[in-house]
Amino acid sequence: MKKEQNHIDRRDFLKRTALASVAFCVAPTLEKVYATRQTVTAKETGPSNGASVNQQRTLGSGEAAFTVSAMGFGCMGLNYHRSEHPDEQAAIRLVHEAIDRGVTLFDTAESYGPFTNERLVGKALRGYAGRVSVTSKFGHKFVNGVQVKTEEDSSPANIRKVCENSLRSLGVEALGIFYQHRSDLNTPIEAVAETVGELIKEGKVLHFGLCEVNADTIRRAHAVCPVTAIQSEYHLMHRTVEESVLPLCRELGIGFVPYSPINRGFLGGLINEYTRFSPNDNRQTLPRFQPEAIRKNLRIVEALNAFGRTRGYTPAQIALAWLMRKAPFIVPIPGTTKLSHLEENLRATDITLTDEEMRELETAVSAIPVTGSRYDALQESKVQK
Ligand SMILES: NC(=O)c1ccc[n+]([C@@H]2O[C@H](COP(=O)([O-])OP(=O)(O)OC[C@H]3O[C@@H](n4cnc5c(N)ncnc54)[C@H](OP(=O)(O)O)[C@@H]3O)[C@@H](O)[C@H]2O)c1
Repeated sequence: MKKEQNHIDRRDFLKRTALASVAFCVAPTLEKVYATRQTVTAKETGPSNGASVNQQRTLGSGEAAFTVSAMGFGCMGLNYHRSEHPDEQAAIRLVHEAIDRGVTLFDTAESYGPFTNERLVGKALRGYAGRVSVTSKFGHKFVNGVQVKTEEDSSPANIRKVCENSLRSLGVEALGIFYQHRSDLNTPIEAVAETVGELIKEGKVLHFGLCEVNADTIRRAHAVCPVTAIQSEYHLMHRTVEESVLPLCRELGIGFVPYSPINRGFLGGLINEYTRFSPNDNRQTLPRFQPEAIRKNLRIVEALNAFGRTRGYTPAQIALAWLMRKAPFIVPIPGTTKLSHLEENLRATDITLTDEEMRELETAVSAIPVTGSRYDALQESKVQK
């Protein structure tokens, strides 16, 4: 509560300092944070005082309904899998900037790091309970802290263990959505749904979600515990969910959270065949991010550039606006380490593409074949068809 008060004071303070550029005086413990934030605000957001997300969307329905900002924030890349990471204080400041701009949905997972991403997000969200929600995921198998990549573990005991760890790392009383990360051949989905249902009754989890599952699994899970959201990969270069998952979400009143909505940065237009990813970045292992595939797929970015040129939209904004126009129950969770990209992405929530524009865009993009699969063989074997 005290931090919440500090946060509100800080916003007022920033508005005033951004306008007047005067010397300022703050409590010593917050001086560093204020000083840096003032610089960032003045330099990067300009007189408009920054983009914000002003709309909300509801994931799920009935008792499973969960209303969140129309765009969320994928936290994974703040310290995992996305090459250069900001230092901890800068990452925390970026999360605070997202909150200042109306984002209420933050996504993480036990396996990001592993464990360290949840801890970072926990630090960043401290003091914001009741104002924002954090979603996390269970289901990967870890032995002595190391992931066993050939197996999954959604046993009830592991779900409960991960839940307790996530609550502790994140410093929250309940997880907004607790997703199964990948399906586990050894645990029927009904047992998974029942276990998460119990955690909901115990108040440790607010809502149930599933990642990369097929329509049959969604139906079976939903019959046991109402599903709030499916989180699967969905963007202009990967549209498989349109075949049966999205129609089923519409039918059952389930929300959809597209992950990697900018195709891991590719649709932002800043990656080319000379881009080299750090060893910590999973893109270096993905077929679609090999130089030859990138070179061929850049035609898709060119199509987005051509579409956006006369309209004043960037390729990332087009990718996000397209997703949000596909259905009102879709809430993308782009990730970024940069305030400028956060601003750019949030401004996509103000873009409404017309039916004709959607057709024009889809026709242009689907005329270009996508080169390279999204995952390697092992990862692909983990996603349900
Ligand atoms: N459920 C699952 O299995 C699963 C799998 C993967 C991811 N996820 C979730 O989805 C979230 C997002 O996924 P993601 O990070 O893989 O992909 P993404 O959001 O599509 O792309 C993130 C990348 O795009 C770049 N980017 C962001 N905005 C940009 C812009 N406006 N212009 C140019 N580049 C931009 C970022 O770099 P900068 O830092 O330079 O902006 C970053 O490298 C994750 O944080 C995670 O929460 C879930």
